[in-house]
Amino acid sequence: MDAAAICTQLSHLQNSGATFDELLSHAVRLLHESNERFDWTGIYELDPGQMLHLGPFIGAPTDHVFIAVGHGVCGSAVAEGCNKNIPDVSKEPNYLACSSATRSELVVLIRDGDRIYAQIDIDSHQVDAFDSSIESGVEMIARWLAGAYHSDEVQKQAA
Ligand code: SME
Repeated sequence: MDAAAICTQLSHLQNSGATFDELLSHAVRLLHESNERFDWTGIYELDPGQMLHLGPFIGAPTDHVFIAVGHGVCGSAVAEGCNKNIPDVSKEPNYLACSSATRSELVVLIRDGDRIYAQIDIDSHQVDAFDSSIESGVEMIARWLAGAYHSDEVQKQAA
């Protein structure tokens, strides 16, 4: 399933009354299953204390349940306000190992302008697994999720 089809599927689920947590879990599952190069797929959420914490994920359990902003590839993406495509994690000094099998990593921020809600983190056992078309697809899903985070926030404020 390509990224546009995943977003369509997520919109159907949203319109059918899926909860926000269900939408996040489905997004992770659909994304993970969309490419055999994806060996670990998850969402880290940014809390108001500027700490990333692990949300839904598929793949090997990780010790990195909490990551401070500025630490690792994930925390650096938030600190610098940009996505990270690391073709060879062995050459990345600021890398926190989740699994010794990981060779490359992609982090895409889920954001609305300067407001960062969360990030999609994908690890691959292949070097340089994430080409520009994969990155664009993950960015499309991140944009869809940013809308869902915004709606969830508005609903919680109204409650
Ligand atoms: N590699 C990440 C840590 C998260 S695990 O990959 C799931 C990092 O360097 O921040």
